[in-house]
Amino acid sequence: MINIALPKGRLGEKVYQILEQAGYPCPAIREENRKLVFENPAAGVRYFWVKPSDVAIYVERAAADIGIAGKDILLEYQPEVYELADLGVGTCRMCVAGKKGVRDRRDQTLRVATKFPKIAKSYYSAQSRDIDIIKLHGSIELAPLLGLSDVIVDIVETGKTLLENDLEVKETIVPISARLIANRVSYKFKHPEITQLCRQVDEYCRQT
Ligand code: PRP
Repeated sequence: MINIALPKGRLGEKVYQILEQAGYPCPAIREENRKLVFENPAAGVRYFWVKPSDVAIYVERAAADIGIAGKDILLEYQPEVYELADLGVGTCRMCVAGKKGVRDRRDQTLRVATKFPKIAKSYYSAQSRDIDIIKLHGSIELAPLLGLSDVIVDIVETGKTLLENDLEVKETIVPISARLIANRVSYKFKHPEITQLCRQVDEYCRQT
């Protein structure tokens, strides 16, 4: 049995569809209920619904053999897992954004609001830029609007949130998408099962 951590929400539903089409169905998962664990012994899979930002922790600590996590989470938390495949879904980009028309004054410490302090720090330290990180947990776009920060480092998907709040992308840091990750020990001990799943998912993704 392969234990798979799926990210709860829209991305998780897309990802489950890929796994289902790739030969790892679990019909019970589609039932409307609040269960979090679903298994299909015939297909050799057990799925869990996990908060997206927690998937890497479940996989790193072997509560799940594999999982699907955004590249943003992998860059921020740097879990000790193997990254096996890019599923090509959940695509967006990590950006620096700020108020429209406001220029960066490079002689001043930049106040950066973000959910991703590690990504922000490494981006600016590569430019030898002094920054002051303001760690927030959501609605990051509010920070420059209320003068809490000069810019934000955040995910931009459609760009709608920025647009509707008079903000704009200043720089793109890195493209993001969902990645299939594996626990290092599971990868060794369940190698045939995990590589088979990876192959089937890869084949399915290439066909679509
Ligand atoms: C994310 C991100 C942006 C928004 C970008 O927020 O932090 O706020 O999506 O999407 P868009 O470019 O399509 O508008 P999320 O929905 O995760 O909520 P949050 O504010 O709680 O972080």
